[in-house]
Amino acid sequence: MRISARAQRIEPFYVMEVAKAAGVLAREVAHTDRPMIFLNIGEPDFTAPPLVQEAAARAVRAGATQYTQATGLELLRERISGWYAQRFGVDVPARRIVVTAGASAALQLACLALIESGDEILLPDPSYPCNRHFVSAADGKAVLVPTTAEERFQLTAAKVEAAWTDKTRGVLLASPSNPTGTSIAPDELRRIHEVVAQRGGITLIDEIYLGLSHDDAFGQTALAIDDNIISINSFSKYFNMTGWRLGWLVVPEALVPVVERLAQNLFICASTVSQHAALACFEAESIAEYERRRAEFKARRDWFIPQLNALGLHVPVVPDGAFYAWADCTAVAQKLGISGSWDFAFETMKRAHVAVTPGRDFGTAETARFVRFSTASSMAHLQESVERLRAMIANPVR
Ligand SMILES: Cc1ncc(COP(=O)(O)O)c(C=O)c1O
Repeated sequence: MRISARAQRIEPFYVMEVAKAAGVLAREVAHTDRPMIFLNIGEPDFTAPPLVQEAAARAVRAGATQYTQATGLELLRERISGWYAQRFGVDVPARRIVVTAGASAALQLACLALIESGDEILLPDPSYPCNRHFVSAADGKAVLVPTTAEERFQLTAAKVEAAWTDKTRGVLLASPSNPTGTSIAPDELRRIHEVVAQRGGITLIDEIYLGLSHDDAFGQTALAIDDNIISINSFSKYFNMTGWRLGWLVVPEALVPVVERLAQNLFICASTVSQHAALACFEAESIAEYERRRAEFKARRDWFIPQLNALGLHVPVVPDGAFYAWADCTAVAQKLGISGSWDFAFETMKRAHVAVTPGRDFGTAETARFVRFSTASSMAHLQESVERLRAMIANPVR
């Protein structure tokens, strides 16, 4: 069967390959005194809080399961709008919010609405792998721009300006970022957007980890800068609803009917049950629980990053959000007689029974040096992982 060039351009998601291998080994070691600890997981270890679960059950019992309008339940769009006002002090009218099947569908809709065949979109290297594939699925070309620790592994206005060609259509940023947990400073973001806007381009920003920001200096939405910025968000991370498949995007007013038309045809609507459940996310009791969990993520970060550094797994930029640590494993890998983060990930999986994600998925620049640790795991698991890694590093014989 002939496979489309578009499908062939989509590279495998290596994170999943690593997760698969870790899953197989985990079954083998499940009943030993060292069961596998999964620090490769990109989703919260919390589930939706009680009010959200009850709202879902109520919706099912009431038979509120028909399609909704393509842009989502009116009330949910209003609640999201209220969240922007309360949490970020920004006026984002509900009519500019389109509810989607996760940030993934939001990214797909934005890319399909704006990218012509051959258009180039600038992204930071490293960045979340699927984002470049949304660009190429829309027949665009993702151009990865290498970044440095000094730049917090994010694009800068100067880099965007230097990388811009007559084929460039815009930028796709993520702040805080996966895999680094680092954000773009608001002033830099403003400058990036100016460079893009002066060239008639588009600024797309994936703000899926914005709710999990640990630093007020960074935890601001790009929507405060300009109504023309397109922001993608989700119920997956801060709201702990990964499998419910619910997210949203905020677009300029003129783009709403375009995205609506695409959404009607491609998805009909996001899950109705999930939308009804998500209404309860914004209740005071749920928000209090989410804030408690956010504090827990921060406490884990504050404990774990110094531990990694002490092990020689250097984290060059302290993450200001999300639940990741992007650590340079070069020195430790050398000590262990292996080279590169891919082998390091398999070594820790086999010897320490700690699953981590090698940098490979996230770009090409320096990703062989880095591994991503996820702190979406209990403090007890993080502590046990550090002990096991310490023992492995102290005993490099294979
Ligand atoms: C940066 C980033 N964007 C988008 C997604 C997709 O999220 P969703 O579950 O909302 O589709 C993820 C998931 O890990 C992510 O890390």
